Amino acid sequence: MSETARLEYGGKSYTLPVVHGTENETAVDISNLRAESGLITLDDGYGNTGSCLSAITYIDGDKGILRYRGYAIEELAEQCSFAECAHLVMFGELPNRGQLDEFRRLLRVHSFIHEDMRHHFEGFPPNAPPMAILSAMINAVGCFQPEVTVVDDDANFLEAAARVMSKVRTIAAYSYKKSRGEPVIYPRADLRYTANFLHMMFSKPYEPFEPDNDIVRALDQIWVLHADHEQNCSTSTVRMVGSSQANLFASVAAGVCALWGPLHGGANQAVIEMLTQIQASGEPVSKFIERVKSKDSKSLLMGFGHRVYRNFDPRAKIIKASCDKVLAKLGIHDPLLDIAKQLEEAALRDEYFISRKLYPNVDFYSGIIMRAIGIPLNMFTVMFAIGRVPGWIANWREVRLNPKARIYRPRQIYVGPTAREYVPISRR
Ligand code: ACO
Repeated sequence: MSETARLEYGGKSYTLPVVHGTENETAVDISNLRAESGLITLDDGYGNTGSCLSAITYIDGDKGILRYRGYAIEELAEQCSFAECAHLVMFGELPNRGQLDEFRRLLRVHSFIHEDMRHHFEGFPPNAPPMAILSAMINAVGCFQPEVTVVDDDANFLEAAARVMSKVRTIAAYSYKKSRGEPVIYPRADLRYTANFLHMMFSKPYEPFEPDNDIVRALDQIWVLHADHEQNCSTSTVRMVGSSQANLFASVAAGVCALWGPLHGGANQAVIEMLTQIQASGEPVSKFIERVKSKDSKSLLMGFGHRVYRNFDPRAKIIKASCDKVLAKLGIHDPLLDIAKQLEEAALRDEYFISRKLYPNVDFYSGIIMRAIGIPLNMFTVMFAIGRVPGWIANWREVRLNPKARIYRPRQIYVGPTAREYVPISRR
């Protein structure tokens, strides 16, 4: 017999089904609660609400486990390219050689954006935030692809996914060029996804940029680590928008807007700003830590802590190792890395951080790598967005493939004024 939970209220008892995930996560299914009892559940901020069944990503925050489709993030980060990982996340299985080649071909042929789109870039002021450009342009590009706004079978979907992934990367590089007043650089047919991005970012018409393999690999790995992270703010947004049957471009554009906020995708930039401030002020690390702990200044140790990971963030370990490698390869000595390491060491010894289970998260070292590669600070959240696109697409697809899916429509408990009579303006 299946397991149930019981809720007692108003002298009545209600039996609620208990649902188990494949990793033994447990939930009480309240979908029929309102119909049976008139009650809804209240969970401001959704911290305790399972909004869907999902087969994409599994996280155990206490044990520091992150898996895409069952595969450990450590193995994927070590062995998988971003394209391979994206295919896994979006379609559920690691691609075989033929599937990967076909996906790469699609990424290549869809890397161009319509020539008319270049005029759209002219309309933004030079200091426009790249995340604003990215979300607007994803929707605009969608207007040039009317045939993929309907995604009715797997072949169509593969095509649409490749278009969105490939064009998001091109738009990101174009917005960087626009912000510098430089001509845009067309993608190259001989380069793969990540190398092509670096080429579009850093080549100039009179000076081609040849991406270094180790640097390409480091960025590819950062994107693998960001490919999905279950029901975070932007992914839930994409699912929400997709549930209204909005097209893939519109739904991903909404995800970009959600990611833009400093509490979500903006943290990698905030880490570098914090480290730069410490460096500029000459404040000793120990004093900064004391200031954070005192809470007077409202300063946080940016890049530390995570809503879900309460032991360690598995992505942070991988990024830290990569950071050392990239800086050594480029022969860069970044004083910000020294400060970051001192901060980490001091925090991990400190009772304040230990008792609150605060550890470095993925953002603590990723910014130092991007800085070393030459990615400007205001593009950091865009880099996160490029990495997260496969997860958004996978979640959008899951909503679309669910035969029972209905438009997402949470309820609320109203706490405003009760019914009152309209007062004419002359009497107010
Ligand atoms: N520095 C100092 N103190 C912190 C930090 C921090 N980075 N993070 C949490 N705390 C403290 C809180 O002040 C609180 O202290 P209290 O118990 O004395 O009140 C306690 O730790 C618990 O913190 P919460 O805010 O309840 O933790 P929550 O799970 O809500 O927040 C979050 C998680 C938003 C990530 C938080 O740790 C934070 O702001 N970190 C810095 C920003 C950051 O790095 N964000 C990136 C997250 S990863 C990502 O989005 C890819």
